[in-house]
Amino acid sequence: MGKYAVEMEDIWMVFNKTIVANKEVNFKVKKGEIHALVGENGAGKSTLMSVLFGIYQQTKGTIKINGKEEIISNPVKANRLGIGMVHQHFKMVDIFTLWENIALGAEMTTAGEIINSRKIKNKITKIMNQYNLRIDLDKTTANATVGMKQKAEILKILYRDADILVFDEPTAVLTPQEIDGLLQVMLELQKDGKTIILITHKMAEIKKVANSATVIRLGEVIGTFDMKETSVEQLSEAMVGRKVVETKNDYSPRSEEVVLKIENLTMKKVSNTKVIGLENFSLDVHAGEVVAIAGVEGNGQQEIAEAITGMSKVYSGNVKIHNHDITYASIASRYSKWKISHVPEDRHKHGLVLDFSVSQNVVLQDIDNPKFSQAKIINSGAVQAYAQTIIQKFDVRNADAGFAIARQLSGGNQQKVILGREITRPTDLLVIYQPTRGLDVGSIEFIHAQILKAKKDNRAILLISYELSEVLALADRIVVLNAGKKIGELPGKGAKREEVGKMMLGRED
Ligand SMILES: Nc1ncnc2c1ncn2[C@@H]1O[C@H](COP(=O)(O)OP(=O)(O)OP(=O)(O)O)[C@@H](O)[C@H]1O
Ligand SMILES: [Mg+2]
Repeated sequence: MGKYAVEMEDIWMVFNKTIVANKEVNFKVKKGEIHALVGENGAGKSTLMSVLFGIYQQTKGTIKINGKEEIISNPVKANRLGIGMVHQHFKMVDIFTLWENIALGAEMTTAGEIINSRKIKNKITKIMNQYNLRIDLDKTTANATVGMKQKAEILKILYRDADILVFDEPTAVLTPQEIDGLLQVMLELQKDGKTIILITHKMAEIKKVANSATVIRLGEVIGTFDMKETSVEQLSEAMVGRKVVETKNDYSPRSEEVVLKIENLTMKKVSNTKVIGLENFSLDVHAGEVVAIAGVEGNGQQEIAEAITGMSKVYSGNVKIHNHDITYASIASRYSKWKISHVPEDRHKHGLVLDFSVSQNVVLQDIDNPKFSQAKIINSGAVQAYAQTIIQKFDVRNADAGFAIARQLSGGNQQKVILGREITRPTDLLVIYQPTRGLDVGSIEFIHAQILKAKKDNRAILLISYELSEVLALADRIVVLNAGKKIGELPGKGAKREEVGKMMLGRED
């Protein structure tokens, strides 16, 4: 038996003959280790793993699995070689139940025809118990939370008996509690002899579970590091090629002017309209201040954002902008007349039109502006020039001067397009939901600086984030939500992580 589970040698991946996503990559993963794969947004991590999983054919280079050279022509072949991948964006059929998705394409049948659901569920249940990964298998996928879907994706690869498990940013959409659970599962899997490749931007996770880490930058390997001997700072520096400094609010005073006023807002839950998701919630956000909503996911954050942006109907209470009631205003008027910017939680569902170009995506709400169109004729030159300024400023990689289709961009770069669009639009209120989800450490630093610049420009910012470190770095005021209610508020200056964490869990002691 050889030492390596995966050996990728001199891998090149070139898209459309021009975009070099991977260049001369040598990537080796020892059997039984947890190996982190890290690098900036667009560095080529997902692409490299898609080559390993047979989604793309490398332009050049060889792959050995367990010491034997293999041509991985498609994911079915990858499965047969014992490779499983949990993708950055989930791939599931919404109208199926979770167990149907887990077994999809690998169903156990009776008489070669009939799907044996009992046998399938038994096998899944065994795996769930073995790794402490429990979900309600009969739930329809459309009604499942991201955490459940994530678990289903993991069960999917374990169900196929994979030995080499690739996780592409599995924690980007999870809450801190779920992340701890997942890391525990990974250690369990490792104990069982599985080999794990983990893509993540979160250094703390790497420190917790990874034995080694390979850094790629602009498609090329910078080096492989033994995590026993490497600090988080060294790793970040290798990733971005410079020192990363944390951005912090200077707590300059806000202005008197109230931009957003929420009064006694009650909302049904977005995920289940039979129950109340937010109760009697009131909040003012002034010009020149960052108010952060902290809380565990699912405690009313989504409901607040949807009431302000008009995505859900308000049950009772009011939302006012500059003292004008907009509770029932159209979505279009909120974006234009009432000058709201919105970075949505789900970038694929609500942030981008994935099959539009980057340029088209950058003017989605503003296409009627005479700058961009007149008499219904789009001034594509002006649109493109505008897109180009955003691409440059927000460092959107491989956007092909705005011609690239949004779907082709790496996940982090898609996020930068949305942030660039929403921060650049001349608005008074920014509703920013999980802004740095999936961003690399260098980009997080940049985005945080942009949010604080918006404060300096006397804009009002409502930040909704599950990342406590983000809340603590940016907020002038922290409002804590629990079970749909505001359970406390404290100034950002001097706020302690433990204090806010405790409040998030609903304890006021
Ligand atoms: N199908 C495709 N066609 C054209 N270009 C592509 C395609 N897939 C990826 N790319 C480009 O290849 C580069 C690497 O993308 P990749 O998704 O591998 O980055 P990543 O390291 O996973 O980044 P992130 O951290 O943002 O997920 C990107 O610049 C992207 O635009
Ligand atoms: Mg990726």
